[in-house]
Amino acid sequence: MAVSVSAGDSETIEVETNLSEDSANYFNMKINRAKKTEAVQKSEWRTFNTSLYYISNDYKTWEDSRQDCLKRGADLAVINSEEEQVFISQLNTKPRIGLIDKDSEGTWKWVDGTPLTTAFWSTEEPNDRAVDGEDCVSLYYHTQPVLKNWNDLACNTAFMWICEIVNG
Ligand code: BGC
Ligand code: CA
Repeated sequence: MAVSVSAGDSETIEVETNLSEDSANYFNMKINRAKKTEAVQKSEWRTFNTSLYYISNDYKTWEDSRQDCLKRGADLAVINSEEEQVFISQLNTKPRIGLIDKDSEGTWKWVDGTPLTTAFWSTEEPNDRAVDGEDCVSLYYHTQPVLKNWNDLACNTAFMWICEIVNG
């Protein structure tokens, strides 16, 4: 059986082996898995449970960071559990997430359309304090307990962000 081994983005070589078809498929699967792991490790993408996360090392407005995520086939991160909140917090980048109350002040909605059920607001947040309001959420207070670090901030201020591909 021939086993194909890719040596880079464009170059693939076929190697003639004495493997059976099953063994050749198994071998190919192993190679592909190793390549995926290497790709994840080399980039800013991280895995947690069944999602992939892109951690920006740049600053953008909420709208521009959302566009960046969409271009990557992702969206701003949606936090569905305490474990995910802890995982994102330990990345230590104060990222903006996919939670807004732009449509209706005080009604928080995730970018996937689901309402906010489990929240990790910091003390006295959300407070909509800025002159033009604060409708976009970041994990902002890293001196606070990990389950109390969300802050609402002005959407037009540039911050770091985190994208998520669910089941990526
Ligand atoms: C307040 C936050 C607010 C931030 C920016 C801080 O002093 O505690 O609630 O989001 O200023 O306006
Ligand atoms: Ca605030």
